[in-house]
Amino acid sequence: MAAEPTFETAPAARPDGDLLAVRDLTATAALADRSLTLLDGVSIAIAPGEVLGVVGESGSGKTTLARAVVGLLERNVSIAGGAIELAGETIVAPGVGATDQARGRRVGMVFQGASRSLNPLIRVRRQLAEVLRRHEPGISRDDVTRRSEDVLREMRIEDPDRVLDSYPHQLSGGLRQRVAIALAVVTRPSLVIADECTTALDVTTQAEVVRLFRTLIDDLGLGLLFVTHDLMLASDLCDRIVVMSQGRVVESGPTAEVLDRPQDPYTRRLLAAVPTWTEGVENPHA
Ligand SMILES: Nc1ncnc2c1ncn2[C@@H]1O[C@H](COP(=O)(O)OP(=O)(O)OP(=O)(O)O)[C@@H](O)[C@H]1O
Ligand SMILES: [Mg+2]
Repeated sequence: MAAEPTFETAPAARPDGDLLAVRDLTATAALADRSLTLLDGVSIAIAPGEVLGVVGESGSGKTTLARAVVGLLERNVSIAGGAIELAGETIVAPGVGATDQARGRRVGMVFQGASRSLNPLIRVRRQLAEVLRRHEPGISRDDVTRRSEDVLREMRIEDPDRVLDSYPHQLSGGLRQRVAIALAVVTRPSLVIADECTTALDVTTQAEVVRLFRTLIDDLGLGLLFVTHDLMLASDLCDRIVVMSQGRVVESGPTAEVLDRPQDPYTRRLLAAVPTWTEGVENPHA
């Protein structure tokens, strides 16, 4: 979180080498009688090995942004302007939407609540195998087994065989979330998008998930777009933060700068809503 260069006022203008660059993205939803702007000129950038936190009140457009990056926009939502580049390649622009194939292996997604990432009817072993086979059609049976066990060990799961043979409901909430993350990273993506993936978890499990992400980022050098409304969690994990309000980025910068010296009135209000922040109580996640 410490040494960060200071080009933060214009994230879209960062030098080349970004893993993810969202440039001036505008997304609209078609309603019965009118269209609604969900994202209004959003620009963000993530370098390899960097965690970008996206915070903002409910309805500010965080999920829409995350979904645009992974190509999972709802049917009535379309890109009206701007572009998304992954490692320099345009994957989203008006009229351009990369296929799941092109993107799936390079961008992993962890949804809110493990239940949305996991299929309750299928054992973990088959879920991991299906993801691997979808992205690496020629992969051998032995490699599927090895990679599945390895990724669970990376998730600090000590008994991967038991977990592989379990259905999601047979696992604790913390284990389920680790499996959800395993599904997102087993194909070795360069970017992971996590949308409120810790929201349903207790504080201890949240802290474990944060530590796990930290290790993954340090070991694999992946970039992480971490959507949360929990500013404490964001302060713990993120290198930089963008604050969204009503479909726009209202503030962005290194985490410490944004949270300790917020410039935008909206960010100040958001921080004032966290009691421990204003009262100076020690951050329990620190
Ligand atoms: N498919 C859609 N059609 C119409 N409106 C939509 C659609 N998807 C999202 N919206 C609206 O766009 C706005 C942004 O929604 P979004 O889900 O991106 O917000 P969010 O920041 O993720 O909120 P939360 O913190 O509650 O998850 C909201 O007002 C939402 O109602
Ligand atoms: Mg959301």
